Amino acid sequence: MKRKAKNEGYISARESHRISRENRRVTSAMERARERRNVPPQEYASQMKNPDSIVEFDDLHTYFFTDIGTVKAVDGVSFSIPRGKTVGVVGESGCGKSVTSLSLMQLVQRPQGQIVSGAIRFDSEDGVVDIAKMPTEAMRRIRGKQISMVFQEPMTSLNPVFRIGMQVDEVIALHNHALSAEAVKQRTVEMLEMVGIANSQGVYRMYPHELSGGMRQRVMIAMALALSPRLIIADEPTTALDVTIQAQILDLLRHLKDQINSSIMLITHDLGVIAEMADYVVVMYSGRVVEKGTVHDVFKNPSHPYTIGLLNSKPALNREVSRLYSIPGKVPNPINMPDYCYFRDRCEMKTDQCICQYPPEYWISDTHTVNCYRYAPAGREDEPHA
Ligand SMILES: Nc1ncnc2c1ncn2[C@@H]1O[C@H](COP(=O)(O)OP(=O)(O)OP(=O)(O)O)[C@@H](O)[C@H]1O
Ligand SMILES: [Mg+2]
Repeated sequence: MKRKAKNEGYISARESHRISRENRRVTSAMERARERRNVPPQEYASQMKNPDSIVEFDDLHTYFFTDIGTVKAVDGVSFSIPRGKTVGVVGESGCGKSVTSLSLMQLVQRPQGQIVSGAIRFDSEDGVVDIAKMPTEAMRRIRGKQISMVFQEPMTSLNPVFRIGMQVDEVIALHNHALSAEAVKQRTVEMLEMVGIANSQGVYRMYPHELSGGMRQRVMIAMALALSPRLIIADEPTTALDVTIQAQILDLLRHLKDQINSSIMLITHDLGVIAEMADYVVVMYSGRVVEKGTVHDVFKNPSHPYTIGLLNSKPALNREVSRLYSIPGKVPNPINMPDYCYFRDRCEMKTDQCICQYPPEYWISDTHTVNCYRYAPAGREDEPHA
């Protein structure tokens, strides 16, 4: 969509009005498609590129149509989550990690937030589906039951006016209509025990404010795992907790994942958490994936200048530094993205080539890719990482 800012960061009332009218036109067409009823499943059936994947994001674009312009929060993201594995997604605040996961759940704030193009293939109980094409009605069968989510702040995700037991019961009952109230309660108590809550009968009757942060996070995990989902999305699951509790919660998540045989998409700022938990890493920057590979690939041979900066800005015991490294500059404005590499203006390794179009994906090994011209085949001989 075309926008014309008179001065940097300033848009006239008339222009804003025009944008908002145009946005309404675009989003209402998309909303109509989403709200269609009785859509035949063939319309959103799909096929995995790799049969071992549980999820494949394929060139996903999720935009927010705001009055000051279109925010390209997710701008061509592709990566896959293999069955039974944990994929860690890292990147600076605002780079689109949460919007990527919310797109997978179809929970992006509508109507301004919309999946504009691309595919999100998910291996559901009824075969592979493309969530990007799925109407809301069909998505309800997947959300919660087959894909569940553990949020960052459990106090805001649990309802303060209902007892813990009732909230977990509700999740279980919603997808198991045949269970009696007694059986649902029994399952809830079992789940609370499974996540390591000792006084499960007592906690069943408590309100969220009566629990500690760690306990609330355990309840959230119990709710997320109650229906043995195929995929768990954990968005900063331990950021609000102190480090000892963090280690316990991560251990618990890892242990339970293996028990119910699911996969995890783990979103975090914390590279330590990724190193401990994940099998694969996806590094995002300004709505795009800039590097991906196994944990070993990315930690042993970080290749994108942003990943290198990210790893250097992490404190390490075996390295003496007077000041922690910080990446210079700031993230580009998501409304006016440049045509060239989004990291170029902050990059200490930029070359003349970097002013041309956005860099494609280059393979460094069978499992490791990076979007950076330093790895373009012609420059490979003198490239230490290649
Ligand atoms: N409802 C919304 N309306 C408009 N813009 C939004 C909305 N939600 C998110 N955005 C924008 O989308 C971009 C990506 O946001 P996102 O929440 O995915 O970041 P993140 O990587 O999860 O960051 P953090 O690490 O801080 O959680 C940001 O520029 C944000 O401002
Ligand atoms: Mg987030």
